[in-house]
Amino acid sequence: MAITLDFSGKVVVVIGGTSGINRGIAELFAAHGAKVAVASRKQEKVDDTVKRLQQLGVDAMGFVADVRELEALEAGLQLVHGRFGAFDVVVSGAAGNFPALANDLSGNAFKSVVDIDLRGTFHVMKAVYPLLRKPGASVINISAPQAFIPMKAQVHVCAAKAGVDMVTRTLALEWGAVGVRVNSVVPGPIDGTEGMARLAPDKNIRKMVARSVPLGRLGTPEDVGHACLFLASALGSFITGTILPVDGGWSQNSCGGMSEYLGTAAARKPVS
Ligand code: HXC
Ligand code: NAP
Repeated sequence: MAITLDFSGKVVVVIGGTSGINRGIAELFAAHGAKVAVASRKQEKVDDTVKRLQQLGVDAMGFVADVRELEALEAGLQLVHGRFGAFDVVVSGAAGNFPALANDLSGNAFKSVVDIDLRGTFHVMKAVYPLLRKPGASVINISAPQAFIPMKAQVHVCAAKAGVDMVTRTLALEWGAVGVRVNSVVPGPIDGTEGMARLAPDKNIRKMVARSVPLGRLGTPEDVGHACLFLASALGSFITGTILPVDGGWSQNSCGGMSEYLGTAAARKPVS
């Protein structure tokens, strides 16, 4: 039988799925027939996303939780499991980012990003494990090029996302035995997102970034979503522990001049 990308009857959970890239991923799974649940900190973003997913003609729900709080995540995920059943796909993508040189970062500022990106990912993994379809579930952590390309003004993000990729690789080892696959997807510079607004706020900088991408353009949330569909489908059935860049080749180019640009811009900024 031909393999399809039909996710009808499948349950997809996207943590941090209420804006930007992750919301794009949630919408793409919905467009392919999945029941979709999203979660993030802000009720209005959850409500707006659920409404949009329902407009796409699928069953959708959402809950409010901060990934830094394991119990809140567990409670919300229990509700999703009660209504939709075992999870076929989990995408974990909540993250925080701001450019700041290490010397200008307080201990708490470093901790806040590590808490959201890295501890948050661990919390999501821990909370979803009992609720995953076994065998068969596909777990996807959303990483960043900073995980393996050092960048000035990004020490907190580099450290946290490198940790996320090691969570992926370690859990691929531990969960393979029960038939659960775990992979990371690494978006490149994605147009129109909060991440780009924070790191490349100026139109000319975004043009420079686009030129530094070997494929010559910024990515879209759909580009990232396509890789998630692939990994979660039967096409990805023997893929686990993989760190998959979806970046137009940007990381092969050490992310162009991003590190120097961020370092220079952060050095110019008055520290508050
Ligand atoms: C230095 C800063 C800072 C800045 C915050 N802090 N912004 N330090 N420069 N620009 C410090 C604060 O002073 C505080 O330290 C500590 O960080 C925590 O700040 P809070 O505001 O209390 O944190 P919180 O409310 O928990 O918010 C977390 C956040 C916030 C990360 C700071 O920006 C957030 O919620 N972001 C989520 C959305 C987001 O960032 N999306 C982009 C993801 S893109 P002190 O010492 O004062 O207590 C991405 C990769 C993009 O991840 C890659 C593109 C190529
Ligand atoms: P975004 O729009 O800010 O998305 C972040 C999402 O996570 C939002 O839904 C946000 O909603 C939620 N979130 C943030 N902190 C949370 C917390 N503590 N607990 C629960 N949910 C939380 O950012 P984006 O730019 O699209 O980035 C999405 C993902 O892609 C991130 O993992 C990022 O590291 C990665 N990435 C982005 C780029 C890029 O070009 N943008 C490049 C590489 C990697 P609430 O505010 O309601 O909590």
